[in-house]
Amino acid sequence: MLKIDNLPKKVRFNLRNKEIFPNTILSPMDGVTDAPFRRLCRVLSGDRMGLLVSEFVPTDGDAVFNPDGHKQLKFFPEERPFGIQIFGRFPDRMAYAAGRIAERYHPEFIEVNAGCPAPKVAGKGSGSGLLRDLPRLQEILHEVKKTLEAKTPEIPLTLKCRIGWDDESINVMETLKIAEGEGVEMLTVHGRTRLQGYNGLANWEWIGKVAAAATIPVIGNGDVNSVECARERINTYGVSGVSIGRGAMHNPWIFGQIADAWEGREKHVITAEEALDVFPLYYKFKIEDGATEMNAMGRMKQLAARLCKGFVASSDENVAMSVRQALLTCQSAAEMLDQVQKLKEGLAREMVFVPERLVNLNGAKETELKFGDQFKGR
Ligand SMILES: Cc1cc2nc3c(=O)[nH]c(=O)nc-3n(C[C@H](O)[C@H](O)[C@H](O)COP(=O)(O)O)c2cc1C
Repeated sequence: MLKIDNLPKKVRFNLRNKEIFPNTILSPMDGVTDAPFRRLCRVLSGDRMGLLVSEFVPTDGDAVFNPDGHKQLKFFPEERPFGIQIFGRFPDRMAYAAGRIAERYHPEFIEVNAGCPAPKVAGKGSGSGLLRDLPRLQEILHEVKKTLEAKTPEIPLTLKCRIGWDDESINVMETLKIAEGEGVEMLTVHGRTRLQGYNGLANWEWIGKVAAAATIPVIGNGDVNSVECARERINTYGVSGVSIGRGAMHNPWIFGQIADAWEGREKHVITAEEALDVFPLYYKFKIEDGATEMNAMGRMKQLAARLCKGFVASSDENVAMSVRQALLTCQSAAEMLDQVQKLKEGLAREMVFVPERLVNLNGAKETELKFGDQFKGR
């Protein structure tokens, strides 16, 4: 049965003249959203993901940027429309890298990162460090755009930023003005300051102000973790779409669920068994991509740390915790896959999967095993 009365105000947007449906982006996450993870989300979402973006690619390190040295640039034709995100603090290097990438890979867009809070990035003036030096950000956008215009004018330039460095210096409205002035064609705003890191909740009021003032598509980002949340953010804050990062680790089906909802279809409810089936699938994709068994296991644990939080059982309050523990303490991929099978045959029968129950996607404040614990001591 179609449910068209429940559609948000916007279900699609245009990046230049390309129509993007649904109006979602898988947020780039370094060390997470590589080709196998993106493939996982694509398969689970029936290839209805809106836009995909690479993990960010450094441009500062090389004396001369060499695309061969960056595994993040690898993507498959089926991933299009696909964007490649770059970061750095030198306008000439950023422009050179953008030109090389554009000519070689021909992505649907090139994105400049002005959001990364990591000390080794922001502390050196790249990523969100650019928000403390808007003239430099402007120069970078100017030079990158100039290069794209000269070499590949068909490829739009986009920007991803935070709302500012800290609460005292929120400058996202200036960032928007600069971006529009330099020919940026889509702005994704993560509603946190650099100082916030990933703590607290994103400030959507600022995202809404940017969307109201913008002449380009503004994509809101921060804490979107369900179809209902995406709908509410689009309707309340007037954004052209939403970018979803950690929510996709809790629920890699989310893009397909949104597409279903926007197409007026019933929501596909994921069973606990289906949720557990993700692990062998992800493992297969990692191995097919050339990962070692250890690396593939590490990534399965990374996913388990978030995805398992969605498990609920009426008989056992701590079921999410025990399933996570069971998977995170495995010593090998074979053991982990075996454990998944055991869970499917046992505990999963009384569990349901409700990833939407977590509003705060930042695991750091929780008393459970923290994201990252699984990598300690390795
Ligand atoms: C592990 C991790 C790596 C990230 N790497 C990138 C990156 O390479 N480029 C980028 O623009 N943002 C990066 N981000 C930020 C996310 O794209 C996103 O803006 C942020 O997680 C907030 O969205 P969410 O609440 O939907 O997760 C990263 C976030 C995480 C958690």
